[in-house]
Amino acid sequence: MNDNYAKLWLDYKPRNIHQEYKRLTYFCIEGFDRSDIIICNAIKELSFGLRKMLGISLKEIDENDSTPEAYILIRKTNKISEKKSADKLSSNKEILDREEFEISIRGNNLCIEALGSVGILYGVFDFLRTIACDRNIPDTYSKGRKIRPTNPLRMLDHWDNMDGNIERGYSGKSFFYENNEIIINERTYDYARLIASVGINAVVINNVNVKAAASYMITDRYFDKLNKLGEIFAGYGIGLFISLNYASTIEIGGLDSADPLDENVRAWWKEKMAEVFRRIPSLKGFLVKADSEGRPGPFTYGRTQADGANMLADIVKEYGAIIIWRCFVYNCRQDWRDTKTDRARAGYDNFMPMDGDYHDNVILQIKNGPMDFQIREPVSPLLGGLRKTNQMLEVQIAQEYTGQQIDVCYLIPMFKEILGFKTYCGKENDTVADIISGETFGSRFSGIAAVTNTGNDFNWTGNYLAGANLFGFGRLAFENNLDAETIAEEFIRMTISDDDRVVNTIKEILLPSRAIYEKYTCPLGIGWMVTPATHYGCSVDGYEYDRWGTYHRADHLGLGVDRSDKGTGYALQYNEPNSSVYNSKKKCPDELVLFFHHLSYDHVLHSGKTVIQHIYDSHFEGFDEAKEMAAKWETLKGDVSNEIYTNVSERFKRQLLNAREWCDQVNSYFYRKSGIPDKYGRQIW
Ligand code: GCU
Repeated sequence: MNDNYAKLWLDYKPRNIHQEYKRLTYFCIEGFDRSDIIICNAIKELSFGLRKMLGISLKEIDENDSTPEAYILIRKTNKISEKKSADKLSSNKEILDREEFEISIRGNNLCIEALGSVGILYGVFDFLRTIACDRNIPDTYSKGRKIRPTNPLRMLDHWDNMDGNIERGYSGKSFFYENNEIIINERTYDYARLIASVGINAVVINNVNVKAAASYMITDRYFDKLNKLGEIFAGYGIGLFISLNYASTIEIGGLDSADPLDENVRAWWKEKMAEVFRRIPSLKGFLVKADSEGRPGPFTYGRTQADGANMLADIVKEYGAIIIWRCFVYNCRQDWRDTKTDRARAGYDNFMPMDGDYHDNVILQIKNGPMDFQIREPVSPLLGGLRKTNQMLEVQIAQEYTGQQIDVCYLIPMFKEILGFKTYCGKENDTVADIISGETFGSRFSGIAAVTNTGNDFNWTGNYLAGANLFGFGRLAFENNLDAETIAEEFIRMTISDDDRVVNTIKEILLPSRAIYEKYTCPLGIGWMVTPATHYGCSVDGYEYDRWGTYHRADHLGLGVDRSDKGTGYALQYNEPNSSVYNSKKKCPDELVLFFHHLSYDHVLHSGKTVIQHIYDSHFEGFDEAKEMAAKWETLKGDVSNEIYTNVSERFKRQLLNAREWCDQVNSYFYRKSGIPDKYGRQIW
C-alpha cells in the first residue's frame, strides 16, 4: 500500500466497540479450493480489515490445531445445486447463484456461506462494513443475513481514452492509460478492491467513442496487458469488457465495409474474435456505441441496430460472451427550426420495432432518460416498452450535467426515483427495478451500468463527496432496497468520519443536494441551458440554435417543448396511464411539465405558483440552500481531515459562484423575455 492516493472506504479505522469479536482470530475454509484466487483475495481482505479495525491477526486453523473457542467459518454451501448449463453462456440466475451469500452466527462462530467464491468475497466485505459502520454484529447476523444481489450485472463504464484523457472526466486523468499504453500498478489492484467491495461485477475500461489507439485494443498491441487486467479483475469477481469500434473491419481490418450482413465482414470478425478470446480468456464481452454522434454503425448499410448487434453476438457466443448495445441513437444534426423531429423520441423509435429480434446474448443499454443524463428527465419509455429483449439501465455518476464534481450532487435519491418508476408494462412487477433485475420478463441478462466518475486524482473522484456516488451506485446496484440515507451514512462512516455530528452534518449536505442543484439550474424538467461543449455553467440559449435537438423554445409568452399528442407525440410512447398523465398539461407532474408541454408564464402549476414565479422562487431558494450547504461544511473544520476539509471547501467556493450565475442568469433571462416581475421584488438583472 502506498500514499499516492486515498483508500476511501477501505481505509478502515480502529473500532473499539466490538471487543467480544476479538475472539474471532481463526478462520477455516470448507469446500472451496484453497488456491481459488477469489478465496485468496477474500481472506486477504478479511485479514486486512480485521487487523486494521480490531487489531486481530487472523490465522487459519490447521489440521494440528485443536479447535479454537471461536472462528470464522468460510463454507461452500450446498443449499443450491451448482448446475452447469449446456452452453458456455451463463445467465442472470447462474450469476446470482454464485454471488449470493449468507452470514450467520453459530454458537461462538461466525459463518460466511456461499455457493461461489465471489459470494464469499461479498460476504467478507459485508462483514467488514458492519464493523466499520459500528453496527451491532449479533443484531445484524444472529438471525442469518442472506443477500442475493438484485441486479445481475452491476457495471462501471469508463470513458477513458488511451491518451490518458477522460471524456467527461472531472477527477484527473485516466489510471488505466497513459500515452496510449495500458498502466497496471498498485492502483489497479486497489481499484478492483474498491469497486468489488461495493459489489461491482463488471467494468468497461475504455470510452464508448472508440477512436485512435483504442481501435487497436483488439490487436496484438494490447493483448498481454488486457489479459493481465482481466486476471486482476477476475480475482475480485469483476468481468472485463471492452468498448468496440463497430467499423473495425474498415479501420483495422483493411476491408471496405462494416455491413453486418456481408460475408467478408462476418468472416473477419469470426477470425478476430477467435484471436481475442484466445489471448484474453477472461474477457466477458463488448460494449458498442453505433450510429450515434458520429460513430459508425449498421445504418450506413441500410441495416437495423438488431442486425449489427446480432452479427457480433452470434460470433462471440461460443466464448460465452455478450454484446451490450447502446440505445443512445438519435439525429445529432437537427435543424433547430424543425419542431417535428424530437430527440426524445429517437431511442424508442429506433429500438422498439425490433423488440424480440435481438439474440439472447445481446443486452440493450438504455440511458435512464430519453435525452442525456439531465438533472431531471422522465424515465425512458424503452424501459417497460421492450418486453422481449435483454436490457440494462445506464446512469451517469460522472457529473457531466450535474455539477462536474465541483457542485455537490448526491445522485442516489435520483436513482431511487428511477428504479421505483412504475412502467405499467402489464406485469405485476413492473418498476424499472423489477425490469432490470430480470424479474419482470425473465430476462437472460440484465442489470445496471454507470458512466463512472473516477480518475487518477488523489481521492479518485475529484470532490471527496462525489465518492458517495461511486460508493452509492455500487451499493444500490447490489441491494436496490437500500435507501439513499443508509447508503450516505455508510459512505460517511467508512470514508470520512465516524463522529455522529460529522455524519449527520454531511448527511444534511448530501441528501438534499440533488434537489438544490435542480432548483438553481434548468427549471421544471426542461433540461440543458448549459455552456455548450463543456456542459458546466449556465448558458440559457447555449443549445437553443444548435443541432443537438436540445431546445427550451422560450419566447415572450412561455416556454417548454410540446411533446403531447398535439406536439411531437413523445408522451404517447409510454404505457397507460403514464401516457395520459404526461400528455395532459393538467395532470403532468410539475417537475416534468416543461419537458412535455409548452406553457405560458402565467400557467398555474400544481404547487399553486405560476411558471414564472416558480422559476424565480426556485432559483433564489436553490442559491440560498447552496450557501447553507457550504456553511454547514465550514462547521466541520477540525473535525474531518484537513485534506478532506480543504478539498470540499474549495469546491463549495466554486459551487457558490456557479449557483449564483445560474440563479441570476436564469431569472434575468426569463424576466427579460416575459416582462413579468418577481412578486417579492428581489433583485433581478
Ligand atoms: C453525452 C456526452 C458525450 C458522450 C455521449 C454518450 O452526449 O456529452 O461525451 O459521448 O453522451 O453517452 O455516448
